[in-house]
Amino acid sequence: MSTTISRRTFIKGAAAAGVALAAGSYFTWNGQNIPKSVQKGDITYDVLIIGSGGAGMRAALAAAENKNLKVAVMTKLVPTRSASTMAQGGMNGVTGVTDPEDSVESHMFDTIKGGDYLCDQDAVEYFAQRAGENIYEMDFMGYPYNRQKDGAFHQRKMGGSSHPRAAYFEDRAGHAMVHALFEQCLKNNIDFISECQMLEISMDGDKLNGVIAMDMRSGNLLGVAAKTVIIATGGYGRVYWIRTSNPYSSTGDGIVAGMNIGIPFKDPEMVQFHPTGLSANGVLLSESSRAEGALLINKDGERFMGKYAPEKKELATRDIVARAIATEMLEGRGIGEGIHAGVYMDFRHIPPERIDERLGQVLDLSKRFAGVDIKKEMVPIAPTCHYSMGGLEMADFHTGASRVPGVFVAGECSCVSIHGANRLGANSLSEVLVFGHTAGDGAAAYAKEHKYEGNQEKMAQDCAKWQDKFTEVTTRDRSAGKTVPEIRDAMVNTMWYKVGVFREENQLLEAAQELTALEKEYEHCYVGDTSHVYNTAFEQYIELGNLLQVSHSIVQGAIARKESRGGHSRRDYPKRDDVNFLKHTLIFKKDGGYHTEYKDVVITKYQPKERKY
Ligand code: FUM
Repeated sequence: MSTTISRRTFIKGAAAAGVALAAGSYFTWNGQNIPKSVQKGDITYDVLIIGSGGAGMRAALAAAENKNLKVAVMTKLVPTRSASTMAQGGMNGVTGVTDPEDSVESHMFDTIKGGDYLCDQDAVEYFAQRAGENIYEMDFMGYPYNRQKDGAFHQRKMGGSSHPRAAYFEDRAGHAMVHALFEQCLKNNIDFISECQMLEISMDGDKLNGVIAMDMRSGNLLGVAAKTVIIATGGYGRVYWIRTSNPYSSTGDGIVAGMNIGIPFKDPEMVQFHPTGLSANGVLLSESSRAEGALLINKDGERFMGKYAPEKKELATRDIVARAIATEMLEGRGIGEGIHAGVYMDFRHIPPERIDERLGQVLDLSKRFAGVDIKKEMVPIAPTCHYSMGGLEMADFHTGASRVPGVFVAGECSCVSIHGANRLGANSLSEVLVFGHTAGDGAAAYAKEHKYEGNQEKMAQDCAKWQDKFTEVTTRDRSAGKTVPEIRDAMVNTMWYKVGVFREENQLLEAAQELTALEKEYEHCYVGDTSHVYNTAFEQYIELGNLLQVSHSIVQGAIARKESRGGHSRRDYPKRDDVNFLKHTLIFKKDGGYHTEYKDVVITKYQPKERKY
C-alpha cells in the first residue's frame, strides 16, 4: 500500500482532527491558550484582530507579511471553531476555469441585482476584480478543492449567479478554508489569544488603547494594548436563536463594541433568511443542494418555485426562494406546525454517488439532525436566519478602515455594502478573503505610520470597571429578576414572529416595545454563577446584552424603511421605493439611545431596475 499522503488528504485529515480535538477538552498549540506576554500585559500589538474566522485569519496573514509587526488574533472560541467553519457552498470568483464565458462584469452585475440595488457599486467592482485571485491564492495555501478531470478546481453555480462561479470543497467549503488559513497563520508565527471574550474596545478620547477581554479559563481580565484593532467577529444570527444556521457564538459582540466607540451599524434591517434550514432546528442544508439539482416540493407534491421565479426556479436568489417557501406555508401548502413548519427538499433523483462526492455534509446533517436519509426520503426544510448584510460601516473599502482612527472592520460583522439588501450564495467566503486581506494590509500600513498613543492607565481602569461589573452581576440574588434564558427566549419569539421573513408596521412597533421592556429586565437579570473559571453564565449574559442591542437596531431600521427590498419584505409596503429609500440606514448609539441617519448608495454602472429571475 502506498504511504504517500497527498496535500488534499492531509488537509481533509487535519480538518477532521481539529473538530475531534475541539470537541474534546482543550485545543491548544504551543501548550498555551494565551501568550505569556499578554498575560503579563507587556506587549503592544501592531495589529490585534478580534475574531478567528475567515476574515480574521486572512487579515492576520496579510498584516504578518510585514515581518517587523506584532500581529495577534483574539477569539472567544478556538480558531478552528468560528462560524466560517460552518460555511458550506463555496466561494465565488471569476477564474476562467470552469466557464470561460464568465466575467468580472457578470459577477458584478449578478451581485448588484441580487442585492436589489442597495450595493455600493464601486465596492462591488473592487470585490469582483479580486475574488478570482483569492481562489487561486487558496489553492497555493493548500485548499483541497473538488477538481475537474484536468486537475483544475471545479466551480458550481449558486443562486442568482449567471455562471458556475463558486469553487468549493464538497459542501464543507468554509471548514476547509479555516483550516488552510489556520495552518498558514501557525506557519507565520501569528499569536492566538484563545477563549477570551472581548468586552470592550478601550479608548481614551479619540485614541485607541486596545481591547478589554475576559480570559474564560481563569476569569482574569486582560487589557491588550494595540495600535490597531480589526473587528472581525462575524454575525448575530442568534437573535433568532434556534431559527438560525449560525453557531451559538454568533451574538454580534463586535458590532456592539464598534457601536460603543462611534461606528454606525449600517443597514441593520437587511437580514438574510436562507431558504433551506432543517425545519427541526434551523441547521443549514447548503444551497449547493439546489445547485446540484435538489427540488423544493410543497405538501401537495407540487414543485412550486416556477410560480415565483419562472426562469431560475430553485436557483433564484435567497430572498425570493425564502419568501416563496414562507408563502406556501402561509397559504396552507406547507407541512408541520409552528416554528417547525416547512416544505420538502427532494434529492431522490440525484445520483447517490454525486451526493457522496459533493453533498456529504448535507447527507450527514439530514441524518443526524432530522433523522432523514436524503437518498431515500424528502427532508423537511424552512427558512432560517443565515446572514447579516448589514454591519459596522466600513468607511474606506480600499483599506478596511472604519470612521474611528486605528479601528478596521472585516467580514460579516462589517458592511462594505457589496451585498446590499440580499447576498448571493458563495459571495461571503469570497468577501472574507478579499476584505480580510484588504483590512490586514490597511491596518498594517496604519500601524507602520503611527506610534502607539494609547493610555494604559485608562485601560487598567476599564479592566477594574469590568471586574466590578462581574462581581455585581454574578452575585445578584435569585429574586433580582428573570434569568438570562428567560429573557433570551422572549427576545427570540419577538424577533422570529414579528421581525421575520415578512414584516409590517404594527408588528414591528410591538417588537420595539417588547425589546425595550426586555432591555429593562436585562439590567437586573439573574445570572447565578459566581465562579471565575469558565463562567459561561456570565459570558451568555454579555452575549444576550449584545443580541438585544443588535435586535433593537434591526427593528429601528426596519420600522423606518417603508418599502420592500431584498431580505426586507414589508407586507404594508410591498414595492421597492427607489425615490425615498435608495439609501443606506446608519444607526448610531448616542446619548443613551439609538439615532438614525441615512447615506446615499453609490451607483456607477447599473441603474436600478425591476429584478426578474
Ligand atoms: O448554502 C450555502 O452553502 C451557503 C453559502 C453561503 O452563504 O455563501
